[in-house]
Amino acid sequence: MKKLGTEPYKGVRDFYPADMAVQKYIFKVWQDTVESFGYEEYGASVLEPAELYRAKSGEEIVNEQTYTFLDRGKREVTLRPEMTPTVARMVAAKRRELGLPLRWYSIPNLFRYEQPQRGRVREHWQLNVDLFGIDSIDADAEVISLAYYIMKNFGAKDEDFEIRINSRELLEKIFTDKLKDENDLSKAIRLLDRKEKMAPDEFEQAMKELTAEKIDLAFEKNEEVALLVDSLKQAGLTNVIFDATLARGFDYYTGTIFEIFDTNPANKRALFGGGRYDDLTSLFGGDRIPAVGFGMGDVTIRDFLETHKLLPDLKSTTDIHICTLDSEFITEAEKLAAKLRAEGKNVSVNLTDKKIGDQIAYADKHGIAAVIVIGEEEVKTGKFKVKDLKSGIEKLL
Ligand code: HAM
Repeated sequence: MKKLGTEPYKGVRDFYPADMAVQKYIFKVWQDTVESFGYEEYGASVLEPAELYRAKSGEEIVNEQTYTFLDRGKREVTLRPEMTPTVARMVAAKRRELGLPLRWYSIPNLFRYEQPQRGRVREHWQLNVDLFGIDSIDADAEVISLAYYIMKNFGAKDEDFEIRINSRELLEKIFTDKLKDENDLSKAIRLLDRKEKMAPDEFEQAMKELTAEKIDLAFEKNEEVALLVDSLKQAGLTNVIFDATLARGFDYYTGTIFEIFDTNPANKRALFGGGRYDDLTSLFGGDRIPAVGFGMGDVTIRDFLETHKLLPDLKSTTDIHICTLDSEFITEAEKLAAKLRAEGKNVSVNLTDKKIGDQIAYADKHGIAAVIVIGEEEVKTGKFKVKDLKSGIEKLL
């Protein structure tokens, strides 16, 4: 019989405990930061009707990157490639009961059929932060500062990353009177979005096909973005810039758009991307609800943290491993473990007949900070020594 492979499916990751510890750390920083800004968590299923993405997500995502299949009832189902349509659907469904404004976040896993490469996989987790119901640039400023403080809470310095801001309205204005065919606006914006990934002359050529006259974005200005950049600078964000060449691949953005980049060229992909999308909820009927938010992926931030050596030493969640001098002491060890657990400690117990040295090596390999050794003496006296494996210091319990 042919043996099964141990590789995961193409472009997805297994999370062994050491990877899971990093993942949990990233989620914790995300969660602590967004909650410090008053955001509430929501969730939804990974399955959505395929039509949800057809309306506004953008051609590349829908035609080339979704996992879509027919279920047994012949419904077309998509594994969510992003969270924004889902959250817009949820807000639209209960707009009256929820009470605007809403500050919401979620950490969904998302599926995109992309060519796996550095910073790009087929399943990633993405922090989504969205503020519904506020029209002003104060809301844009709030979510952008939130993104900035996430980076700061990971230990990043201002010079390690850059926040680039542009306006979808500005891009529309620039392109509208220069396109050969006015229906090609989304195409032109998506082309701009892919600029960094193309050879310069290939990009020039493709742009020439769409536009009647040459566009020099370097001279463009936008008052709203200038105001936003200014107010963020005044709030102490030194690494915010206006970038007229910044584009986002989704069709639902209506105003401010922004992305955060690593200043180290090892990581070319955006760490975050987001913007204002004031019309998405109206797809579901009813009044429009202004919204602004962003997504930040686990893969790109992990690359960032590794490149800048910002990942802390992650210890085991187990505090103490109880070693036994002989297997006859396992019952005693279990009793002690139960007591310690009742006091809030995480404790594992040796169940092997390995030598003490090997039992301690087990604790060390798994990053457990301390051990207790139980033998005849300990059982008789009811006193135990807790040994910290790093410092070697022993404490009597
Ligand atoms: P996005 O730019 O497609 O935006 O994704 C946001 C971030 O998710 C990217 O900057 C990147 O860190 C990460 N990401 C995206 N695709 C992948 C992938 N295939 N592999 C690894 N990481 C990836 C959105 O998805 C918008 N819905 C965000 C948003 C929320 N806009 C408003 N609210």
